[in-house]
Amino acid sequence: MKLECDFLVIGSGIAGLSFALHAAAHGSVIIITKKSGNECNTRYAQGGIACVLDPRDSFRNHITDTLSTGHGICNAEAVELLVRNAPDRLRELLEWGVHFTQARKSTAAFSLDLGKEGGHSAHRIVHAADTTGEEIESAVLAQARSHPNISIYEHHHAVELITNHHLRRRRKKNKCYGAYVLDTQHRYIGAIRAKITCVATGGAGKVYQHSTNPDVARGDGIAMAYRAGAQIANMEFIQFHPTMLCHEQSNSFLISEAIRGFGAVIKDACGRAFMDEYDPMKSLAPRDIVARAIDREIKRSGQNCVYLDIRHADATQTRKRFPAIYKRCKRLGIDITRDLIPVVPAAHYLCGGIKVDSCCKSSIENLYACGEAACTGVHGANRLASNSLLEAVVFSHRAAHDAGARIHGVDQLPIDAVHAWDDSGTIDIEEWILLSHNIYEIQATMWDYVGIVRSDVRLQRARRRISMLEGEIESYYKRTRITPELLDLRNVVTTAKLIVNSALRRHESRGLHYTTDYPEQDERRWKRDTIISKKLRY
Ligand code: FAD
Ligand code: SIN
Repeated sequence: MKLECDFLVIGSGIAGLSFALHAAAHGSVIIITKKSGNECNTRYAQGGIACVLDPRDSFRNHITDTLSTGHGICNAEAVELLVRNAPDRLRELLEWGVHFTQARKSTAAFSLDLGKEGGHSAHRIVHAADTTGEEIESAVLAQARSHPNISIYEHHHAVELITNHHLRRRRKKNKCYGAYVLDTQHRYIGAIRAKITCVATGGAGKVYQHSTNPDVARGDGIAMAYRAGAQIANMEFIQFHPTMLCHEQSNSFLISEAIRGFGAVIKDACGRAFMDEYDPMKSLAPRDIVARAIDREIKRSGQNCVYLDIRHADATQTRKRFPAIYKRCKRLGIDITRDLIPVVPAAHYLCGGIKVDSCCKSSIENLYACGEAACTGVHGANRLASNSLLEAVVFSHRAAHDAGARIHGVDQLPIDAVHAWDDSGTIDIEEWILLSHNIYEIQATMWDYVGIVRSDVRLQRARRRISMLEGEIESYYKRTRITPELLDLRNVVTTAKLIVNSALRRHESRGLHYTTDYPEQDERRWKRDTIISKKLRY
């Protein structure tokens, strides 16, 4: 492993890769990623990437939809940047070799097929059938792999950010100087020194028992940044996707919202299209509304799921538009053109994260954050569908240009200025076996008490349990040799703590945070971000 670079990027999803490709024009880049290069949330994205292309649509409409879905606390400047920069970033993805689905009838203005998703007032979702993420990830990863200034280290797991705390001689201002990294195949921890570090570690769906996310999504970057003293914002806003496939042989498989944009209707077991009673946009209402409605209907009926019905659509068109969903369901004995699709809500997206400015600078000098790990303010209290791939490309581009312009003024830390990682200690297998079960306990606690509908009693209960587990994990961590499993566990408990504490602070209901103790939106006291940093005591 190389131990020095200009830009260290942690994470190889769309945010990390796109930051790296732009930063590489200004210096040497190392990307580290904890599994194989393409294992990330990006790869599983289905619906697509929002972009105004149809002349009948407008930037203003996309901005209004984003702000209204965000329930009053989006950063309006960030939303403008997001929407207005979308066409340029889309063009760049095409240049990087991403193939999107073409429209059947193209016009001079645009030739791409545009889907529709919840909360959008127009067709504006550019997609590659129903495997948009896979198409984007493989094309952009190939670009990064072939770039002469970029080195990619797979199976390298960031342990901690290097900050003042790790220097032999402390400095006054808290800055980031790179990261300690575990080479998981050779079980070796090294310090990678970097002038600029960019956290692009994605979300934290796997803090919950039921999630659409892959196992890598455990909030690592947010937990590391929090431990390093960075400000963390809006962690209470966890988006539950309304329609994960509910089947005993399938965990985490999403049924894209695009299928509702294509005409699917959410129904209960008796065939009632109950969303008509909850919102004028019916099955295509924003996700917070749909997920809460489904949660209510499931609790009321005692059934374990609701259904998506697309049987009325032309079967050939459905198979063509959703080939991956069709195949996956067919393997499980569900023909989506003839059968109802059983679905349940599941943890999907984290609207909060490391608080950053419009160039993705965090509150720690020389530390940037992009993508789902960051909180740019774009999503506010709820994310509009297909705005996150867009956020990742728009803001990582801004971040790389900002960092590139500063790089020559940033000093590299000399090798002997930083403490080597002390990896002494033993693994007590018996204690580890007991401790490793804690991850399921945390996930179940978060699912049961910090879910779609919350209350103070439930949140307090979660806080007590998470705090006890955190104590056990931290004590084990301090006296043992580090493994990737232990790092995951430690980051999950920290991220869970941040979610619970943020949720306990917000004494109102807004967007994705709904609590029966404060069911109203409180414009006077709570029209603002929830910000936590380590200096605070809980
Ligand atoms: P990721 O793509 O998750 O990448 C994070 C990277 O960080 C991974 O490579 C991971 O291995 C690495 N990493 C994590 N921790 C460490 C560590 N400690 N050390 C080293 N590496 C680490 N959004 C849309 O806009 N449109 C959609 O259609 C859409 N569909 C979705 C469908 C599904 C099933 C899911 C789960 C999400 C979907 N989203 C969608 C959300 C979107 O995919 C993500 O928000 C976005 O891809 C996040 O990109 P990212 O680069 O920030 O993170
Ligand atoms: C989906 O395809 O339903 C997911 C879209 C998103 O999360 O933005």
